[in-house]
Amino acid sequence: MKNAIRFFTKSKKGNTKKLADAVSEATGLEALDVSADLAENVDTLILINAMYAANIDKEVKEFLARNKEKIGQVVNMNTAASGASTWKAVSKVTDELGIALSEKEFHCAASWIFINKGLPSDEDFTRAKEFARSITGT
Ligand SMILES: Cc1cc2nc3c(=O)[nH]c(=O)nc-3n(C[C@H](O)[C@H](O)[C@H](O)COP(=O)(O)O)c2cc1C
Repeated sequence: MKNAIRFFTKSKKGNTKKLADAVSEATGLEALDVSADLAENVDTLILINAMYAANIDKEVKEFLARNKEKIGQVVNMNTAASGASTWKAVSKVTDELGIALSEKEFHCAASWIFINKGLPSDEDFTRAKEFARSITGT
């Protein structure tokens, strides 16, 4: 099975990059940001993103549009200050593009400005690693 990671991080805290680095460590896959198009077809794309203004960022949407032919399925992993998931926002885009989106997903609460200091926690990163390993079988 061929798998890949792509992430998009926006805030100075870099929560999504930290999550992507943890998933990379757990799976042995390189954590690249969404400016890097897929070099080859993948069975599973682990898409690591965050909620901004109750949506996902347009860079994530554009990455999916550019690479849709190369993606077998997307597995969504994300953070939000509210602790809500971006899965619905991602599914809107994947549905439009005809990309399969796994029902399996990971999300956790994260820091934003003055709230949720210290999140994701060490426990969140551990859970994220376990989730990613369960997806890739590593
Ligand atoms: C511009 C901006 C808008 C955000 N909007 C929301 C939001 O609508 N709902 C929410 O729960 N969190 C929101 N957040 C919080 C982020 O989802 C959270 O801080 C996330 O971990 C950011 O990831 P990053 O550090 O990789 O950019 C927002 C953060 C930023 C920077």
